Order: sequence, then C-alpha cells, then structure tokens
Amino acid sequence: MELYKRLLEYLKPYRARFVVASIFMLFVSLTSGATAMIIQPVLDDIFLRKDQEMLILLPIGVALIYLIRGVGRYVASSQMQLIGQMAVRDIRNHLFGHIQKLSLDFFSARKTGQIISRITNDVYVIQDSVAIVVYDLIRESMTMIVLLFVVYYHNWKLATIALLVIPFSGLLIDRLGKRLRLVSGETQEAMGDLNAMLVETFTGIRVVQAFGMEKYEVAKFHKRNDTYFQKIKRTIRINELTSPLMEFIGALGIALIIWYGGSMVMEGKTSVGAFFSFIMALFMLYAPISKLARVYNKIQQALASAQRIFEIMDTSPSIRQKEGAVSMAPLASHIEFRDVCFHYGEEDQALDVIDLKVEKGQAVALVGPSGAGKTTLVNLIPRFFDVSKGAILFDGTDIRDVTIPSLREQIGIVTQDVFLFNDSIRNNIAYGQEDAPMELIERAARAAYAHDFIMKAPGGYEAIIGERGHKLSGGERQRISIARAIMKDPAVLILDEATSALDTESEIMVQKALENLMRERTTFVIAHRLSTILSSDMIVAMDGGRIVERGGHEELLGQGGLYKKLFDLQFRSAMDTVKMRKEE
Ligand SMILES: Nc1ncnc2c1ncn2[C@@H]1O[C@H](COP(=O)(O)OP(=O)(O)O)[C@@H](O)[C@H]1O
Ligand SMILES: [Mg+2]
Repeated sequence: MELYKRLLEYLKPYRARFVVASIFMLFVSLTSGATAMIIQPVLDDIFLRKDQEMLILLPIGVALIYLIRGVGRYVASSQMQLIGQMAVRDIRNHLFGHIQKLSLDFFSARKTGQIISRITNDVYVIQDSVAIVVYDLIRESMTMIVLLFVVYYHNWKLATIALLVIPFSGLLIDRLGKRLRLVSGETQEAMGDLNAMLVETFTGIRVVQAFGMEKYEVAKFHKRNDTYFQKIKRTIRINELTSPLMEFIGALGIALIIWYGGSMVMEGKTSVGAFFSFIMALFMLYAPISKLARVYNKIQQALASAQRIFEIMDTSPSIRQKEGAVSMAPLASHIEFRDVCFHYGEEDQALDVIDLKVEKGQAVALVGPSGAGKTTLVNLIPRFFDVSKGAILFDGTDIRDVTIPSLREQIGIVTQDVFLFNDSIRNNIAYGQEDAPMELIERAARAAYAHDFIMKAPGGYEAIIGERGHKLSGGERQRISIARAIMKDPAVLILDEATSALDTESEIMVQKALENLMRERTTFVIAHRLSTILSSDMIVAMDGGRIVERGGHEELLGQGGLYKKLFDLQFRSAMDTVKMRKEE
C-alpha cells in the first residue's frame, strides 16, 4: 500500500491531463458496450424481422461507434502514455538528484554498476509498467463495468452465474502476481550485477588485457548473464501462464452459459438476439479480466523495482548539515584535530585519538606506512566522513556547526588518481566556475605548468580530453587537476600522494606546479617525495591510526624512530642525489 501511494504521488502533477484522458477512455469503453448491444438489433431486426430501415441505420451506427472509439482511443492512449513517461522522468530526476547528495560511505558500500542499474533498468521497468498500467487499468476497468451493465441488463440471473468464476480468477491472479514480484526483484538484482561487471571490466580493461584475463572475464560474464536469464525465464513463465489460465476459467463460465442460456432460448424464454448479445458481452467481458490480470502482473513487477528505487531514495546522507548551521568565515588562524577518533562502519578504529594543530599558512607533511590512516585523516577535513569521536575545528569552530558548502568552498584537493571530465580542458580547469574569465583560467594553467602542453593540443583550451582524460599523459592530467585547484583558490589544501604516480620528468613539473599551489595556503600533504617533506613546516609520522612522532626533519631523524626507518627505506637514495647535485 505504501509503495502504491508513493508511486501515485508521481502521477499527481498530471491530474488534469489524467482526467481528460479518462473521459476519452470512457468513450472507448462505452463503444465496447455499444458494440455488444448492437448485436441484438442486427440479429433480431435485420435477420429475423428483415427490417429495411434498420439495414441502413445499423451499418451507419457501427461506423459511428468505431469513429468515436478511434478518436477516444487515440487521445486517451497517447495522453496516458505521456503521463506515464512524465512521471518516470520525474522519478529518474529525483533519484539522480538524491544520489548526488549521498555521502561517500554509500558509494563505497555499493558497486557503481548496481547504482546505475537502479536508475536505468529499474526505472525502465516502472516506465514499461506505468504506461501500460495507467492505460489498461483504466480502460479495461471501465470496459468491464460497461459490459457488466450490458449483461445484467439482458439477464441478471445468467449474468450472476457467468460471474461466479470471477472470485476464482481473482485469487489466482493475486497468487501469481505476488510470486512474480518476488522473482522480478531478483531479476533486477541480477541485472544490476551484470551492470556492475560491465562498469568494472570496461574501466579496468587495461588490467584485464595486460593479464590476459579476457577469457576469464568472458566466462564470468556468461555465468552472470545466465543467472539473469534463468530469473527472466521464471518471470516469463509466470507472466505467460496468467492469460491462458484466465481464458480457460472464462471459457468454463461461457460453457456454463451456453448450456443454461441455450436451454432458455429453446424454451422460448429469451430471444436469439438477446442471447447472442449476452454471449458477445460475456466474451468481451472476459477479455478485460484477462488483461487486468496482466496489468496486475505489471504492477507487481513495477512494485519490485519501486522498492529498489525507494530504498535508495530513503537512504539519507550520513553527512548532514545541522539545523541553523551558519556560513563559515574564511580561515583566520588555525585548524585543529581535537581527540579525533574514526572508524569505517563496523570496522576497527582507523584513527585513534588524533591531536593536531596547524597554524594558518603552514604545511604539514603526513608520512607513514600504507594503511596508517593518512588518507582517512585528510578525508575528515572536507567532511567526506564525520569523526566518530572528538572534533575538527576551524578557528575554534566545529566544522559540523557550519554549512557544508561554506566549508568545502575553502578546501582544495589534489589526489593521486586524478579525475577529469570528458569535456574541454577549459571547463575541466574552471570546474564549478562556469563564467570564469579566460585570463584567470590561463593564469591558473601557467602556474600549474600546463599552459604549454595545452597550447600544443589541437584546439588548445577547447580541446576535449576524452573520458577521464585518457588522451593526456599522467603528468599532464595531474597538472590540469592542479590548475583546477589553483582556479578554486582555496585557503586549505589537501594533497594526497599527488606525485606518486608520475615519472621523474613530469614529477619535476608537477612538483613545481604544486609549489605554486601551496604558496600561502594551509596544506596537508601526504608525501612520497623528500623535497615536499623537507619544505614542510612540520612532519607528522603516523602508524596504525595514531600519530607516533611529530617535528622537523633533523629532529625526527635524531629520534631514530618511525620517521628514521621510513627515511632509510624510501628517501635515503633521493637524499644522496640531492646532496650529490649540491656538491657538483
Ligand atoms: N572506505 C573504507 N572502508 C573501510 N575501511 C577503509 C576504507 N578506507 C580505508 N580503510 C581502512 O582504514 C585504514 C586506513 O586507511 P588509509 O587512511 O587509506 O591509509 P593510508 O592513506 O595511510 O594508506 C586501513 O586499514 C584501510 O584498510
Ligand atoms: Mg592513502
């Protein structure tokens, strides 16, 4: 019931259209009744009484009935389908809008393909159903009512006998429908799995091919495709069983009537015409019943998908803005982590009592083995996740007390895996600032050491860079993402291993670009490069979700702890080169 109501909500805005379409539909249904009714005068007046006048009038009548029927059908059918499509368009928009608002934990808990599948396939199932349901449900119900009048008008006793079968069919329809709903949900889930696999293998196609795993992936796909096929097979079976069953039950009713009604004709209790008209109406009456059974099936399938869609719509973002949150003023003095603890979902503590104070304009280098919690720590600053305990404060104000846009506005992020949109270079740099003047974009690109290679690209700043920037080298992509961060001009900067995926040559360029970007900003830099670490104001060494050491380079080396170990492992050779260059 809940689900029905929610789906109907989407039809509400189109009430007026719906009423008009229903009126036209009523005409169509009335013509069904008229068609059944006209049988009686055709048989009785033309064939039996041989009435000349009727011989002219009745054919004209038939033509008129079908003219009205045609017009009514055209208007009703096209309008009802439009209503269905508009409602589905709204559902799709609503769903996409909602998903955009959801927090990162939603996305890490689900496969991208599964989410896509709900917006495409599940919405499609609803689309497919709604158009049919709205149209058929109204038309066939009206037709059924009109025809009921006809049969009762002719002979209420016969009508009652003929309709005895209806409760049986109703029961059957309900059982089949419920079953279908269950299977349909499973079918959609299987389709989602299929989609998830597509997204995964296509985005990772280079890995698949490099490892010669094409056959493996193909076999995996076949298996999932077959799972889907098996589910859809069950759907088809249940669906296709419905109509024949209904027809058979209807035929039983008609057999009963031929036997009982036939004897009434023989006894002269009713005219041949009236009886034929009755039988005709009855035949016509069973057709809507069978159609309604199909409609019921469609509704069940739509409900299964609606459930999957509403499940997402009912997921509220875990990162929420407080009631009455105020806009945050630009960072004036410092950022502080105060007793911050954090764990992902049900998992163990990823950050364990972090205390850290960073003055405005300072750069903090975070170092530590992988899995130490560095990325987790910086992800808390823009509230991609919220702290489990403790607080993060900007100038003494808890970041959960300010509006999310005013917080994120102040933060720029450059990560190892750069994301670029399949759009022009210009729009990628000015992402989020549609009407940015070209001079500013160019200045940002120059500061990011990107201007020169951009000018070499065909079309320059207007060049389209291909999906995820595949037409650019790693270093070029990285410099565009740095230009994007410079464009945003944030007070706080987060660099998460921004240089670790690069070759030496692009690294030098990116390094210089980063230096331009970091100038005069409060920076959290997760560094793999010695030069970045050396130029920072404070080094923080992390391990197992804790800060184990903090201080300057020489100071930490002297302590002979984690930092010294990391330094020996990762940086000593780099240090030697730096020294050698100096000596030369
Ligand atoms: N989305 C996530 N869900 C669950 N656990 C995670 C998630 N991201 C990271 N972790 C875990 O949290 C810990 C810290 O990870 P991370 O902050 O990425 O480390 P680092 O960046 O220092 O390499 C690791 O044990 C990692 O497995
Ligand atoms: Mg990391």
